[in-house]
Amino acid sequence: MLRRIGAQGLAMPVLGLGTWPMKGEECTKAVAGALAMGYRHVDTAEMYENEEAVGAGIRASGVARADIHLTTKVWWEHLEAKALRAAFDASLQRLGSDYVDLFLIHWPAAGMDLAAALETMMALRRSGRARAIGVSNFTVALMREAVRHAPIACNQVEYHLMLGQAKVLEFARAHGVAVTAYAPVARGLFAGDKTVNAIAAKHGVAPEQVALAWLLAQDGVAAIPKAAKPENQRANLAALELALTPEDMAALDALPKDRRQVNPSFAPAWDR
Ligand SMILES: NC(=O)c1ccc[n+]([C@@H]2O[C@H](COP(=O)([O-])OP(=O)(O)OC[C@H]3O[C@@H](n4cnc5c(N)ncnc54)[C@H](OP(=O)(O)O)[C@@H]3O)[C@@H](O)[C@H]2O)c1
Repeated sequence: MLRRIGAQGLAMPVLGLGTWPMKGEECTKAVAGALAMGYRHVDTAEMYENEEAVGAGIRASGVARADIHLTTKVWWEHLEAKALRAAFDASLQRLGSDYVDLFLIHWPAAGMDLAAALETMMALRRSGRARAIGVSNFTVALMREAVRHAPIACNQVEYHLMLGQAKVLEFARAHGVAVTAYAPVARGLFAGDKTVNAIAAKHGVAPEQVALAWLLAQDGVAAIPKAAKPENQRANLAALELALTPEDMAALDALPKDRRQVNPSFAPAWDR
């Protein structure tokens, strides 16, 4: 049984399968395989153009929908009420599900009416079709505004050994908001790092498993590594069993934490 975190309608297994940029058959196979292996949390978004494939993977797995945590996200150009509702309906249709467990604003939009967008999302929550609602790529200032308007259950942000999120985490913990780490194995960024490799060698595991164990040892943090390969999916699940020592954690905490990988032109002004 995977440990779960969350409040405000959310009970999210701490390890999930990221699905971007997989599509079609590759995505369906990855989702079905991961669920068969024991994963119970899948992350997608309308922007990934793979919701149909994710839904097919869930059905192919034979795992009951009720036992799976499913997250999807609305794109930042669809935050106006009518567009938001249409995007949500289309996501559910493509997923072939009556509900999602978590519905997120994928990115903040400059000049958005956040209160109105969250009002629309709260109506979806009241309808039971979005069990919990939240945000992604929100800074502390944006989170502060969001929690004034709605029961935000999660902020999904880039977070890994090479990128710190101390300010977001501090605010999130104080307000009962779970933090989901995306790009949690940093797309291989730390492959050659001596510290990570030495800790991995000491425990007889892969550097990616050390990266995940570091995240999952932290309060209120979930991680959604993307892995198409079954062996990588298995290794990431096994990372839940890896107990790092306080010395390991301190050495990993001390690595450079400014290597952001995802920074599109429409990104907000990040916390420093
Ligand atoms: N909210 C947002 O704006 C946002 C932005 C980016 C990503 N995301 C979400 O976060 C998920 C993960 O992020 P990401 O895909 O950018 O980066 P990531 O999960 O850090 O890295 C994925 C890469 O790492 C490899 N990998 C995974 N586990 C491994 C292991 N144990 N050993 C060796 N290699 C391993 C994968 O290989 P294989 O696939 O070949 O197995 C893949 O090439 C995405 O899929 C998406 O769901 C959200």
